[in-house]
Amino acid sequence: MKVKTLGQFIIERQSDFPYAKGELSRLLRDIGIASKIVNRAVTKAGLIEILGETGDTNVHGEQVKKLDVFANEQFIAAFKAGGEVCAIASEENDDIIPIYSDISKNAKYVVGIDPLDGSGNIDVNVSVGTIFAIYRRKSEVDSAGQLSDFLQSGLKQIAAGYVVYGSSCMLVYSTGRGVNGFTLDPSIGEFCLSHPDIKIPEHGKIYSINEGNYLRFPDGVKKYIKYCQEEDKSTDRPYSSRYIGSFVADFHRNLMKGGIFIYPSTAKSPQGKLRLLYECHPMAFIVEQAGGMATDGFQRILEKKIALLHQRTPLFIGSKAMVEKAMEFMREFSSEKV
Ligand code: AHG
Ligand code: MN
Ligand code: MN
Repeated sequence: MKVKTLGQFIIERQSDFPYAKGELSRLLRDIGIASKIVNRAVTKAGLIEILGETGDTNVHGEQVKKLDVFANEQFIAAFKAGGEVCAIASEENDDIIPIYSDISKNAKYVVGIDPLDGSGNIDVNVSVGTIFAIYRRKSEVDSAGQLSDFLQSGLKQIAAGYVVYGSSCMLVYSTGRGVNGFTLDPSIGEFCLSHPDIKIPEHGKIYSINEGNYLRFPDGVKKYIKYCQEEDKSTDRPYSSRYIGSFVADFHRNLMKGGIFIYPSTAKSPQGKLRLLYECHPMAFIVEQAGGMATDGFQRILEKKIALLHQRTPLFIGSKAMVEKAMEFMREFSSEKV
């Protein structure tokens, strides 16, 4: 198959945006560069002083890992050097990071990012990832971006994507015209188109949820889990339970094979654990572009109101028929509105 690099693909698709002058193309290029640098660190994390904890805790009260900090620094540096971004909202930073410099005077994009997702898995060699959401700024150009630039509906995303640092390094993204996957070819240091026009199967046989929280799940979730476990050959049940604790890796597997990922409200996280801006919005954008569905159990993720930078939400995401089934149980047994 003729190799098509990410750069060639972006330029080829730039014509999808008649008014684009290449800014989004350059921003996606900057994300690709930072991803390659993070991948290099992830693949040899055991060998360089980058494992373990920094001893700090972040705004979410979670232990900060050295690779979280490294990844965050790489993406921030890439966005600052690229000149296309006027502010960043990162899981690793309590407040937004405004950017204003000579080269970013006319920057028109802001980026929400989870620089390293699944960081609890870094030290045990399980796949981790990066998730990003790109919005057009609402504030005036020729100034740094503002908080209001991030508090936009998920429907306003210009582009969204993720990188999975796994058995291979893959970049998957959408600009609203389908979903395409690129695999890093380390021998040439380029992301190459490997999964054109990704579509998630309507149905799947995988459900992904941390069943350790079962006792405090909403009744609708408990009922859906039992539904997944019932014997019924006509609907391919029982399904398989697959959960590795890295949202990006769990999501990517289900996108490829079909399946549903659920992080509902739990005792520890009554509003769910995943963050709307830089985990749920981008993945909801991607899954819908691939023909799937993403809700909070009752409402479409992309239509939820966002009021806080690190706002959490329950998440039901994946194959359309499976998310619809889970929502039936939520309507019947857990009518509370989130
Ligand atoms: P992050 O490392 O960016 O904080 O994300 C971790 C998230 C997500 O990747 C994963 O699905 C979830 O935490 C796992 O949470 P539990 O361990 O509570 O199941
Ligand atoms: Mn995360
Ligand atoms: Mn993270």
